[in-house]
Amino acid sequence: MAVDLLLGLQWGDEGKGKIVDVLTPNYNIIARFQGGPNAGHTLVFNGMKHVLHTIPSGIFHDDAINLVGNGVVIDPVIFKNELEKLDDQNLDYTKSLRLSRKAHLILPTHRLLDAASEIAKGKAKIGSTLKGIGPTYMDKTGRNGIRIGDLELTNWKEKYRALANKHERMIAFYKVDLQYNLDELETEFFKAIETLKALTFIDSEEYIHQSLKEGKSILAEGAQGSLLDIDFGTYPFVTSSNTTAAGACTGLGVAPNKIGDVFGIFKAYTTRVGSGPFPTELFDEDGETMGRVGQEFGATTGRSRRCGWLDLVALRYACQINGVTQLMMMKGDVLSGFKTLKVCTAYNYKGKVITHLPYNIEAENVTPIYTEFKGWSEDLTTMDDASQLPKELNDYIAFLEEELDIPIKIVSVGPDRKQTIFR
Ligand code: GDP
Ligand code: IMO
Ligand code: MG
Repeated sequence: MAVDLLLGLQWGDEGKGKIVDVLTPNYNIIARFQGGPNAGHTLVFNGMKHVLHTIPSGIFHDDAINLVGNGVVIDPVIFKNELEKLDDQNLDYTKSLRLSRKAHLILPTHRLLDAASEIAKGKAKIGSTLKGIGPTYMDKTGRNGIRIGDLELTNWKEKYRALANKHERMIAFYKVDLQYNLDELETEFFKAIETLKALTFIDSEEYIHQSLKEGKSILAEGAQGSLLDIDFGTYPFVTSSNTTAAGACTGLGVAPNKIGDVFGIFKAYTTRVGSGPFPTELFDEDGETMGRVGQEFGATTGRSRRCGWLDLVALRYACQINGVTQLMMMKGDVLSGFKTLKVCTAYNYKGKVITHLPYNIEAENVTPIYTEFKGWSEDLTTMDDASQLPKELNDYIAFLEEELDIPIKIVSVGPDRKQTIFR
């Protein structure tokens, strides 16, 4: 068996949570492989909305094992909150949820360092979710981190103290006005650690290897999106992990030749939350309509998402880097009622027309070149079969398939599990 991947192809929030939930019945194991509680994955079914941050989006299905892989960074406090929300639903996750011993822990001081760094950057801030993601991955690559497996050792608190003390010195070094009470944060942290310790810790790469040998099917759930990838995204306005296909190999211990399908998921338009370049961003009524109809507010921070037209230059780049085999187009319903739709097919880059993503996509270097499409007025949200989709939407889809040379297999027409059309 192989591991299939589901990856966001834009700047995150494409609708990964919804589609993982839809696909989970086809899989034995759902595994997160990177990122942490900077993610906010929304699932809607039976009239209820659930937002997951660290827990994989297969958790609402009884038969699936949900694995938090070694590449993920875990904040025990946020994790505990997520578990409590599941408790409220009377959902028993004790058997289905597993954590990799090699996953790193986000400490309270990582969050403080994130905040101090952003304050110090001023206008140049990344627009981080302030969940401590960057500082935790810095400690991982700096070989100072504390891992889930350390919690099973007797001396981990000494290691914790030394690292937290070092972090406090680093926070002071920033010389920014950051008020905090570490005693309170630590009380909450150590309480949450006890909750974590009641869960099942595993050697996840071995578990995955054995599961594949036994013929089990695995879906790896990406967080963020390709344009936020630490190597291939719009650096430095990115997150601190590899959000692309290769991240699933390192974040789970899966060999490249064990990767099967790569599902690439994108919105029918584009959104971005936080700072950084966004060539097709709209500052007019069209952008405002996308934000309002699409309810574009961050699932983790509540911030308004910036909105714009679909960017095929960026999408093509993401498909190449990830080796996407099937596409899924989300939120087509949000575009109902637009008289004209635009898709960016090339950039005017320093006076030249280019179709690849250049090193620098800041507004002063790049002007998008658009192809226009006639919009549709039909409400898609009640449709459940591809034969019902309006001609103009089919034209839009056919154009994207042709440009990207990859089939669009799912068209999502609303947030609910059921509002999913297979093609
Ligand atoms: P993720 O981070 O990729 O899982 O995406 P988010 O959950 O952060 O953001 C996607 C948002 O769009 C959520 O509020 C979803 O409920 C919603 N959503 C997902 N698919 C659709 C769709 O096809 N149409 C509409 N209108 N909303 C959708
Ligand atoms: P999901 O999984 C959208 C953005 C932040 C910021 C940058 C760095 O829900 O798609 P970080 O906290 O990682 O240091 O922030 O990345 N960002 C996301 N944007 N969706 C996400 O996750 C994101 N996770 C991080 O807004 O610009
Ligand atoms: Mg999200």
